[in-house]
Amino acid sequence: MSKIPIAIIGAGGMGGRHLRALEALYESGMSNVELVAICDTREENATHLSVKAEDMLGSSLEVFTSLEIMKKKRPDIQAVDITTDSGSHHAVAEMAFNLDYHVLCEKPLSLTIKGCNKVIKAWKKSGKVLSVGEQERRDPMCRLNKALIDSGVIGSPYSFILGSARGGNEIIIWPWRHYKNIGGIFVDAGVHAVDQMMYYLGDIEEVFAVSKIWEPKRYKGEKIGVSNFYEQWVKEVPDEIEASAEDMVISTLKYKNGAVGQWTSFWAAHGEEIEYGMIYGSKGSIQPAKQRRGDPLKLTIDGIGKISDKDILDLVPDFHLDELTSRLFKSDRLSSYSCPFEDADKFLVALEYYELGQCINNGSKPEVDAYVGRKDLAVCNAALESSILGRPVTIKEIEDEETSVYESSINNYWRI
Ligand SMILES: NC(=O)c1ccc[n+]([C@@H]2O[C@H](COP(=O)([O-])OP(=O)(O)OC[C@H]3O[C@@H](n4cnc5c(N)ncnc54)[C@H](O)[C@@H]3O)[C@@H](O)[C@H]2O)c1
Repeated sequence: MSKIPIAIIGAGGMGGRHLRALEALYESGMSNVELVAICDTREENATHLSVKAEDMLGSSLEVFTSLEIMKKKRPDIQAVDITTDSGSHHAVAEMAFNLDYHVLCEKPLSLTIKGCNKVIKAWKKSGKVLSVGEQERRDPMCRLNKALIDSGVIGSPYSFILGSARGGNEIIIWPWRHYKNIGGIFVDAGVHAVDQMMYYLGDIEEVFAVSKIWEPKRYKGEKIGVSNFYEQWVKEVPDEIEASAEDMVISTLKYKNGAVGQWTSFWAAHGEEIEYGMIYGSKGSIQPAKQRRGDPLKLTIDGIGKISDKDILDLVPDFHLDELTSRLFKSDRLSSYSCPFEDADKFLVALEYYELGQCINNGSKPEVDAYVGRKDLAVCNAALESSILGRPVTIKEIEDEETSVYESSINNYWRI
């Protein structure tokens, strides 16, 4: 079958990570898409990525600085993969649908519900595919975690306790992750955490939270970014910035199924870093996977004790990974895996690309669609709204735009 011609829009750090994912997909022998162009408003970024692509994928790509020009010059391109900064997603995705493209859009779908709804309106009108790039649930350990919870081994869920603390007063990756209007770190990383919580335990319906900006000034650290994905831009990072986005949000979450969660997202922690998570049920507990690390899950059941990672698989005899995941991670039943973070990272994004191709080819629905993406954002924004209002906020209130004090300045900034 011929491959679907696609373009990457946004040739920054994540654009580079997506390129590596395409390399993994090509090497798997199951690729149903083919990268033919790169578009970035900064031509030098697009050119840089196209040179890398030539090296990695063995194909030369066309470089564009505008989506409209790309549409005119390469009418064969069917889908775009949006990896621009988070604040621009709603505008780029809306334009892409108006130009008749299928879209894979990095998370978050937008920074506001109004922005998400603009994208959803354009998507529905277009009849095209919209998939949100939320890859973490595709990790084989997350799939196993979910299968175990669904099988009832820990009983009915009581609580998910999740948290991390790190960051100090350094600029995290790139200045925009501290600017509320472009994509603060809480929302940028938070949608991943929320997606995990709701993937395992179902929808969250209410949040009560306190948020803060502990570090209104942030400073350039010694190293930026995730692994080496941002090295090219180190010189551009200013020595000092004024942060306008929250760096601590502590939330209590009520799930529709009655479970109650606690979530600490602390990005201004000095001293020792921590990262923890545990799901408790009526019969035991499970420590969820830290994505892309491959460590075994920690399962403890009342009256039995700790279950070793080999024995965990016996509890879910029907658990199997899909064909491409099995190929990339080299088994269809895994209780742990060993590969570098960068490899696991590219495999998970490769799965997103493959799913996009399948959805285009056979009309199936992506796992993380516009509504899942919007709800992931709504939980984060409900926490921020709750802190301003000093009361619990329901996800329905946020999704229905009954209250949007937090979002209003972002909507004004982008004229949404
Ligand atoms: N899923 C994940 O694990 C993960 C990890 C990192 C980043 N991300 C997401 O990927 C996105 C990009 O993050 P990043 O760290 O690569 O950002 P970045 O700032 O490094 O790169 C963004 C690129 O987009 C370009 N750009 C901005 N507006 C544009 C427009 N309108 N049209 C074309 N190009 C435009 C910029 O010039 C830049 O090259 C963000 O939404 C972020 O949340 C996801």
